[in-house]
Amino acid sequence: MVTHPDLVPTLGARRAVIAYLAVFGAVLLLMMALGLLMRLNQGALVTLPPEIFYQSMTVHGTGMVGVASIGGAAVLWYFLGRYVRLTTWVFVLNLLTFTVGAAMILFADFVGGFAAAWTFLFPLPAKAGGQWEQWAAMVHLGGLLLIGTGFLLFHLDTARAILGRYGSLTRALGWPSLFGNDPEPPPPTIVASTMVLIVNTMGLVFGASVLVISLINLVVPQFTIDALIAKNMIYFFGHVFINATIYMAVIVVYELLPEYTGRPWKPNRPFLAAWTLSTVLVMVAYPHHLLMDFGMPHWLLILGQIVSYVSGLPILVVTAFGALMIVYRSGLRWDLAAGLLFIGVFGWAAGVVPAIIDATIIVNSVMHNTLWVPGHFHTYLLLGQVAMVLGFVAWTGKTRASQLFNALAFWIFVAGGIGLTQSFLYAGRLGIPRRFAEYLPEWIGQARIGAFSAALVVIGTVMLVGPLFIRLNRAMAVR
Ligand code: HEM
Repeated sequence: MVTHPDLVPTLGARRAVIAYLAVFGAVLLLMMALGLLMRLNQGALVTLPPEIFYQSMTVHGTGMVGVASIGGAAVLWYFLGRYVRLTTWVFVLNLLTFTVGAAMILFADFVGGFAAAWTFLFPLPAKAGGQWEQWAAMVHLGGLLLIGTGFLLFHLDTARAILGRYGSLTRALGWPSLFGNDPEPPPPTIVASTMVLIVNTMGLVFGASVLVISLINLVVPQFTIDALIAKNMIYFFGHVFINATIYMAVIVVYELLPEYTGRPWKPNRPFLAAWTLSTVLVMVAYPHHLLMDFGMPHWLLILGQIVSYVSGLPILVVTAFGALMIVYRSGLRWDLAAGLLFIGVFGWAAGVVPAIIDATIIVNSVMHNTLWVPGHFHTYLLLGQVAMVLGFVAWTGKTRASQLFNALAFWIFVAGGIGLTQSFLYAGRLGIPRRFAEYLPEWIGQARIGAFSAALVVIGTVMLVGPLFIRLNRAMAVR
């Protein structure tokens, strides 16, 4: 088996990756602007009509989940392409379906008024209470289905390529080394990509199924599904899909830290065991989103709580420990990309702590509908996943920005990110509800701190992705 990169990406492949990063940067900034607007509204610094707040919340939530996945896919595809032969047109098709799907969602939400949140819980899309028309719900759900189909094709192509080289998914997960004596395990990128393709294919199939059922229900109202089963399907899909964005993005850490330090990241048995364990656990942990649903079987909720404690931890521990070990006394020369990768691992680790607290049933029954939840997921997504993808953007190395500019961009982004996420967590601790457009006077102060921090995040992100756009032509030619 090959444990070092042996394929060089073609110019077309590199251009496709840069196109992904450009879409990632543009959509990320747009969604961040909507997030800032919501926080300004909660801080009573601007006044949005309530329907615009909930449309913005729907677009922001859906768009952020999608854009995190686009960034993760760019990372995965670029580095996986060093080991196996991938199909560029399938990769490009996924970007096209994403772009068209995102445009459909923007239209359905801001023109059609659809505002059922990114969770589109059945039967809400069809029961709008006069807030939106049937066509808007259909266009929104259709956009999601299109995006999901693109991602399914993307993962099927990675499956084809990995199977072509490694013969089976278990070999690609490193089982001959984990359970046997094979001295040459597959590289971390192969292991991570295999895990992601397994869990995301499962998630996408469930997501697409419930979307189709909801779409039929919009046209034929007699065609229904049990609301709790639909919720299970939606959260299985949503939980797996958003977790997979981190597992895709972390590949950049496995590939680049060894380049920076000159120390290889060779998967050992704990590493392989962690990825295999999380492949199963990430799919079993989703009931922690349904701890407040009294109709759920109790054994499933207890299973959800216990599994949540361990689901993501194995990968996080081997990655954080591995990153520290590889950097320790390596003489690494810190630059923007290395800093963002490191902060990405930190943000991921920091965000998991409040998430695990929230997955505990007695805590969840008090905290789940508070801002504690946006607090934990913004930590591991914004300071974790997004930071890692931004590290990849920086590594593409097209910026001629000065060291001072880069340092400023980095610290503005990090300081803003910490302020925003802490304002959410602090508000959650005080019991301030999530998804409220209008606040009581005593809630406004922390929302203003959040809004100020959010503005910093937006400025930092403009500084981090701006150089990519300014030098897009050049960016396409190198690396
Ligand atoms: C400048 C950065 C950001 C700001 C200012 C921001 C702001 C917000 C605000 C104000 C909410 C509504 C909170 C509530 O009252 O319930 C929210 C929700 C959300 N945000 Fe962000 N956010 C940012 C970045 C991100 C990122 C990077 C992601 C993911 C990659 C993300 C994903 C979400 C999701 C999934 C929701 C839940 C929407 C819902 O409840 O339906 N956000 N954000």
